[in-house]
Amino acid sequence: MVDSLDLLIRDARACQDCALAATRTQVVVGEGCVPSDLMIIGEGPGAREDELGRPFVGRSGRLLDRLIEEELGRTRGQTYIANVVKCRPPNNRDPRPEEMDACASLLERQLMLVAPRVVLLLGRVAVSRVLRSKASLGSLRGRLYDLDGVVVIPTYHPAFALRGGAARLTEMRVDFARAHLLLEEGRP
Ligand code: URA
Repeated sequence: MVDSLDLLIRDARACQDCALAATRTQVVVGEGCVPSDLMIIGEGPGAREDELGRPFVGRSGRLLDRLIEEELGRTRGQTYIANVVKCRPPNNRDPRPEEMDACASLLERQLMLVAPRVVLLLGRVAVSRVLRSKASLGSLRGRLYDLDGVVVIPTYHPAFALRGGAARLTEMRVDFARAHLLLEEGRP
């Protein structure tokens, strides 16, 4: 089968593979440019995202947009943004392992279609899932990882930076700037 974005969206919207299907308003598949040199992966939709069917459109999303513009010199539409799980976990709890398992093939297909050179992982849940590590985010952050030839940069979730003040935000800026440098290196 030759995969496409249309097929992926169709499959995601029809998905009933975990309990989150029963409580979602909309499936938040992801959005942006396909293919894209940069993919950003968060945890899962919140209330606003569930309502609008788009990733990172609440308070965290506004900070994310700012970081993309100020540190990467581009707009969110010039990246691809998705989440580890595509349906909102009730009361914004962490997604459960079986929910992330049920969504894993959609994320893998997104990675194949987007074919990024650099992936930014936002927050503990996305980092531990994609890097398959139980280590703390604090200990994983600050280094680059290789995922089948893709450079992976773990960083904080924007919600964590919003709660944590200037120091965390500065660290996030450093991580985004690092992604920018790597992306620029590959340009003619
Ligand atoms: N937090 C996430 O991890 N993803 C979203 O889409 C919104 C908030």
